[in-house]
Amino acid sequence: MMKRSKIIGCGSYLPERVVTNAELSAKLDTTDEWITTRTGIRQRHLAADGELTSDLALKAAERALENANIPASEVDMVVLATTTPDNTFPATATKVQDKLGMVNGAAFDIQAVCSGFIYGMAIADNFIKTSQCKTVVLIGAETFSRILDWEDRSTCVLFGDGAGAVVLRAGEAEPEVNVGESGHNRGTGILSTHLHSDGSTNELLYVDGGPSSTQTVGHVRMNGREVFRHAVTNLASIVGEALEANGLASEDIDWLVPHQANKRILDSTAKKLGLAKEKIVITVDRHANTSAASIPLALDEAVRDGRIKKGDLVLMEAMGGGLTWGAGLVRW
Ligand code: UT7
Repeated sequence: MMKRSKIIGCGSYLPERVVTNAELSAKLDTTDEWITTRTGIRQRHLAADGELTSDLALKAAERALENANIPASEVDMVVLATTTPDNTFPATATKVQDKLGMVNGAAFDIQAVCSGFIYGMAIADNFIKTSQCKTVVLIGAETFSRILDWEDRSTCVLFGDGAGAVVLRAGEAEPEVNVGESGHNRGTGILSTHLHSDGSTNELLYVDGGPSSTQTVGHVRMNGREVFRHAVTNLASIVGEALEANGLASEDIDWLVPHQANKRILDSTAKKLGLAKEKIVITVDRHANTSAASIPLALDEAVRDGRIKKGDLVLMEAMGGGLTWGAGLVRW
């Protein structure tokens, strides 16, 4: 029988240093009022000098393994979603693998910018479902502060650094006994994942550098207004797609754990879905946009504070550069 991926642990890590809007407005032509009203962001965490994406990723992974109560020796795949790897190569995931002391299987990075965690979840889930691996550490980790143009107020106020991780393990699909009245499987684990991209919108959000083009790292450039517009449409459609694929309706969602880019995007997604605002896990006020790390950071917070409970239906969704977008539906 086909396996089902179960989330058996989660963990996260935020760098110590907190930078408030007030601190930014002392250096830039911006205000706390503008940032708060346009984005909902009040502060962000920034990595210390010398603190790398692999350091953040390792801490989140260790916490997730501790939470899952399994040793790293049982892990047979590390999937790291990041846009800010330590180096162009090797994959930052291999550094994490080394520091975890894990020698089985494989470790690799994946790149889908802010949708990276959802892309990673789809990849890990498919490896598990086809029995190609049993235990995956899936991490979203970023030091986005390193690719920001700190003189561009329209982007640098929006992002932060951090990491989050989950441990996925192959389990049974829990057949008949867990089929609900609708005939759909009520078992726990990842029910489905959904990915999309549209490369014709590359220029709306990109980095103006890279090894092949400029031999520099480059900085984030964004047409914020257009990205916002696409986000509202694409996120509503991906949520609809995930629900429909499982014969579920938005009323069935217990928790929406979205990518955290802008409070106004979260509000409008909730409104489009007719979802109560209380069902959305929000961290953007404290973390800002941490790209691939934002979903696992929010997930870890809501699991640890007891909001997300066993049996809850949790919907995760994201959109980012590419444009890429996707969703993952999980029964906790
Ligand atoms: O995670 C990947 C996905 N990314 C996103 O989802 C981001 C989506 N976009 C957004 O969140 C919003 O578009 C922003 C927060 C980036 C911008 O908000 P907006 O309401 O779309 O503002 P805007 O870009 O239309 O700019 C409005 C004004 C402009 O001034 P003028 O031209 O109207 O005079 C900007 O120059 O706000 C100005 N502005 C600022 N003012 C003070 C832009 N940045 C700032 C700033 N402080 N930091």
